[in-house]
Amino acid sequence: MHFQTIAPVLGSLALASLVAAVPVQKRGFIAYGDRGDHIKAWQDSSSSSVAPWGSQGTASGGPGGGYPAPTASGSAPQQTGGSAPPTSNSGDDPFKFPLSNGFPVIQAGSPQLNAIEDQAHGLLPNGPPPPTPPADDDLTSLRLIAFNELWEVAFFTELLANITNNVAGYQFQDGAQKQALVNAITAIQAQEELHTLNANNALAHFNAGPIQPCEYIAGVDNLQDAISLASTFTDVVLGTLGDVQTHFGQNGDAGLIRGVAAVIGQEGEQNGFYRSLLGELPSQAPFLTASAREFAFSKLNQQFVVPGSCPNSNTIALPVFGVLNLLTSDVKAQDQSLQFSFSASGQYSKYSSTQGLSLVLINQQNVPVVEPITQAQVAKDGTVNFSANFPFNEFKMHGLTIAVVAQGSSFATVADVAKATVFGPALIEVD
Ligand SMILES: *[C@@H]1O[C@H](CO)[C@@H](O)[C@H](O)[C@H]1NC(C)=O
Ligand SMILES: *[C@@H]1O[C@H](CO)[C@@H](O)[C@H](O)[C@H]1NC(C)=O
Repeated sequence: MHFQTIAPVLGSLALASLVAAVPVQKRGFIAYGDRGDHIKAWQDSSSSSVAPWGSQGTASGGPGGGYPAPTASGSAPQQTGGSAPPTSNSGDDPFKFPLSNGFPVIQAGSPQLNAIEDQAHGLLPNGPPPPTPPADDDLTSLRLIAFNELWEVAFFTELLANITNNVAGYQFQDGAQKQALVNAITAIQAQEELHTLNANNALAHFNAGPIQPCEYIAGVDNLQDAISLASTFTDVVLGTLGDVQTHFGQNGDAGLIRGVAAVIGQEGEQNGFYRSLLGELPSQAPFLTASAREFAFSKLNQQFVVPGSCPNSNTIALPVFGVLNLLTSDVKAQDQSLQFSFSASGQYSKYSSTQGLSLVLINQQNVPVVEPITQAQVAKDGTVNFSANFPFNEFKMHGLTIAVVAQGSSFATVADVAKATVFGPALIEVD
């Protein structure tokens, strides 16, 4: 039965790759195929600009089309098996919690939890937490996980509402395709709710205070960009959870590792699905790109969180770096020079000379690549733009590359890079 519902999607994928040369004219129809001209034609036919997660510009200005807070009606699918469409929406308010089921406040043993578990196809882990409280540093990791998962719930709730309501840019010609995607995103949205509750319940158990939701702006306005964004932020999460596990190991909290491993695999399954929808190979590289907690926390704050809207994200003992913009729009699988910019104003004014700074590229599980900053130019307002090499061929830099500007010129590990980072991350995706 599961196979049957997904089959239309896979069928269309195969079909799209056969007809990849034919431009898709129907606006709002996701093109499951080659990402070249085919998708471009589709994108060009859509009305608004594209804001990939790697490029800060458009997204920070707010969403093009606008989307109101899914209040009670916006989260209806998770309580009704995805069958009742939320009311239709317009406007440009950020996404706000709670959902109609009360999430993120969900009591143990409640009918609301049972409904989420039905949609998620499984239970919140029901074993006892580790007998001793985790190290403070690991509570930081649990807080970061909750902070990130709240964003993911916001994103997938909004995405599900957009698809369900046939919002412009999220429309399907084929009802079976739409239903297959609604089924998949309904499960994912509920699974992300359980990921959040698992982290926040652990924090509550150890009297470490659950993380409360912020307000969010996704900054995308069509299905193609939304899935591409989901794939990129999932890549960052996959790398970051590896960092979290490393801290658990270093701090002697082995009891927390297995649960995080289960989430890494789960998010990897999600990403294989997103990548298939985008016409990419399901598995991007032999070893996924390492990240650090600081990079995930910075990027979430820099790009999605409405400034000042978080009740207690200040309890997360991680830095938020300065923004690093990737100006090059379409990074190809080849050696090339990339353009970046950052703002050397205020607390960052001392960096306008770029002296002592390097561009660091983190890809897969390799030693961080350090590139000199070249052709730096400072504008009157303190904006520094510069170029740096992207040595794709030497390191076969497929998948996610995390780029940051750091102080120094030699780093053994991603943790060393995080310690020296001033601006970033910018996110580069090659296939
Ligand atoms: C949903 O659609 C609205 C209107 O285009 C847009 O502002 C918002 O970013 C979209 N959200 C997602 C997750 O696609
Ligand atoms: C970089 O900065 C210089 C000087 O401020 C400006 O002329 C140039 O257009 C900028 N380049 C990019 C790619 O923004």
